[in-house]
Amino acid sequence: MTVRALRQAGAEVQVVLTASASQFVTATSLQAVSGNPVRSDLWDPAAEASMGHIELARWADAVLIAPATANTMALLATGQAPDLLTTLYLATDAPVFIAPAMNQAMWLHPATQRNRQQLQQDGVEFFGPGAGEQACGDIGPGRMLEPAELAEALQTALATATQRTTSVSPSLAGKRVMITAGPTQEAIDPVRYISNHSSGKQGYALAAAAKAAGATVTLVSGPVALDCPQGVERIAVTSAAEMHQAVQQRVAQTDIFIGVAAVADYRPADVATQKIKKVDGAGQGDKPARDPSGLQLNLVENPDIIAAVAKSPTRPFVVGFAAETHNTLGFARDKRVRKQLDMILVNDVSDKSIGFGSDSNAITVIWADGELALPSQPKDLLAIELITQIAERYAAELATTNLQPAVN
Ligand code: PMT
Repeated sequence: MTVRALRQAGAEVQVVLTASASQFVTATSLQAVSGNPVRSDLWDPAAEASMGHIELARWADAVLIAPATANTMALLATGQAPDLLTTLYLATDAPVFIAPAMNQAMWLHPATQRNRQQLQQDGVEFFGPGAGEQACGDIGPGRMLEPAELAEALQTALATATQRTTSVSPSLAGKRVMITAGPTQEAIDPVRYISNHSSGKQGYALAAAAKAAGATVTLVSGPVALDCPQGVERIAVTSAAEMHQAVQQRVAQTDIFIGVAAVADYRPADVATQKIKKVDGAGQGDKPARDPSGLQLNLVENPDIIAAVAKSPTRPFVVGFAAETHNTLGFARDKRVRKQLDMILVNDVSDKSIGFGSDSNAITVIWADGELALPSQPKDLLAIELITQIAERYAAELATTNLQPAVN
């Protein structure tokens, strides 16, 4: 049982038993295993007298809802609080973890998936569900993870959260950080575009790390399939021109700018208003004959977003990225000077295990009088180290130059 596994891992556990859970397990057995009285009623006068439900919500360092039914997920996702568990969810400041347990069709139902997505956007983390044979005979996803797996997942999640909030030094409290992330899409016609393989993972990880370091974070993001990190403001854009405009509108209110986006250097000179049709061979009727040299696409240069930030009158501290396939350090050093950046973070994107789309990255940090190579590691952990490096260089710059804090 999960309560036993958590206690064996050293946790103090208070159990809240819902009406449906009491069909499967008794309050008496949970009390024996947890060593604490079990709570099930929002308005139980005796229990409220010893510890009110708001006090209980504040007592917890973490809330684990295991097993969580489809109905509980729906209530939590829509902010309804008809019982003690759902009331605690709304009242707690602690991180919340959900271990779903339900029939595979219920888990895969679009309504449940909508609720999962909403809860993740609200900052809830999911453990599982696992897949396999279910009590009803179905096979598929929906099984609750094993108690030992849940206890381990909870310990790992809490340790990572602690590392995130404590390891960034110096703090960025009171600082405004703007980050670009993801690819841009440059339209050719209403159905086609030019783009690249950026997933946004590195930029989003940096946004989360900057937020954890105390900064107010704005994420100007190209089209990606990622949820916005909690507490971060996201401005969604599609093209380089839109990204440029969104950045320019906010640059005067920015202390630190980090350009992680893989911005398209060029866009089609003219965007066709209708789908460009393929023309066969010699042409027929009103269709012209195919140009034997193929379809020509005329490209024009996009604005260099980061170079414009570096030249702005209210210049923030400017950090760029460089994605290189060869002469990695040489090109990056040159790019830092050419674009007038305070720092540049270079990744070798010829290595498919890092860089575009992967979960890991390895980066060399370059600034005017130093370089630091950081080995391959998960992008979220690397982001913590990168934000630490940026915060240190920024603090040093503030102390030695007349870099102005951003205006309100
Ligand atoms: O998104 P992921 O899948 O996690 O992958 C991460 C990444 C590989 C995209 C990221 O780590 C990275 O390297 N980002 C920069 C990609 C890039 O376009 O590099 P670049 O060397 O072409 O550009 C140099 C710098 O100029 C970058 O800061 C870029 O944001 C900026 N730039 C480039 C062109 C342009 N028109 N405007 C810009 O601001």
